[in-house]
Amino acid sequence: MSRAIAVIGGTGPAGTGLALRWARAGETIIIGSRDAARAGQTAEAIRRRAGTNAQISGMENSAACAATDLLMLTVPFEGQAALLKQLKPTIRPGSVLIDATVPLAASVGGRASRTIGVWQGSAAQQTAELVPKGVSVVAAFHNVSADILNGDDDVDCDVIVCSDDPNATQVAMELAVKIPRVRAIDGGKLENARIVEQLTALLIGLNIRHKGHGGIRITGLPEAAYKIGSDR
Ligand SMILES: NC(=O)c1ccc[n+]([C@@H]2O[C@H](COP(=O)([O-])OP(=O)(O)OC[C@H]3O[C@@H](n4cnc5c(N)ncnc54)[C@H](OP(=O)(O)O)[C@@H]3O)[C@@H](O)[C@H]2O)c1
Repeated sequence: MSRAIAVIGGTGPAGTGLALRWARAGETIIIGSRDAARAGQTAEAIRRRAGTNAQISGMENSAACAATDLLMLTVPFEGQAALLKQLKPTIRPGSVLIDATVPLAASVGGRASRTIGVWQGSAAQQTAELVPKGVSVVAAFHNVSADILNGDDDVDCDVIVCSDDPNATQVAMELAVKIPRVRAIDGGKLENARIVEQLTALLIGLNIRHKGHGGIRITGLPEAAYKIGSDR
């Protein structure tokens, strides 16, 4: 049986969209929130859309961390560091933590089409500094529109996955291709998250300019570079 995925900050559009897609794919999901009741309500709303057999529950974030060793972080950049410091004692040794955080300038009152500099290089590298030793951080899912994830259509986007731990990269790639039509690409070291995070600011600007929900596709790599799902 596959391990449960705890979506920390899973009550927002990014977390609910990923949870919906993974619940539909048969994964066991725990929605995490600062408020257990809100987590439960969100889990119930996702169950209504994913089907009554969906395995989904809601918990306060620290209980969600303690319940599994596969974590998906979907909180705004302004809350990321403080939340991780609070959750650190509850994160299990050996966990894989997938981080989709984008350090948008909107976090400090600026534009969502710009990023801010992060001392560590990227939001994901900041996460890597804050989690307990032995926890593997993976950067992924930054460029997938939450609006599309929360719909019923296939998702026309590649997911670039960056980590210093090849096993953690594989875990995130396998989850990515559970989303219909998503292809996963190993994007190399965690430091490359800086570039992937910034692409999201560009996508937000394009979406505002052209009124859409843009994603990315990487072309021209050998077939073996693209992991695809069983639906393809
Ligand atoms: N939206 C997208 O299309 C998209 C796409 C790719 C990546 N991302 C990234 O994914 C992350 C989440 O995006 P989102 O649009 O879902 O964000 P969001 O709605 O602003 O926040 C997600 C959840 O995080 C929790 N949260 C909010 N402020 C917090 C704080 N200060 N401390 C701790 N928890 C806090 C809230 O849950 P509770 O109040 O229930 O705790 C909220 O529902 C962001 O970093 C974003 O850049 C978003």
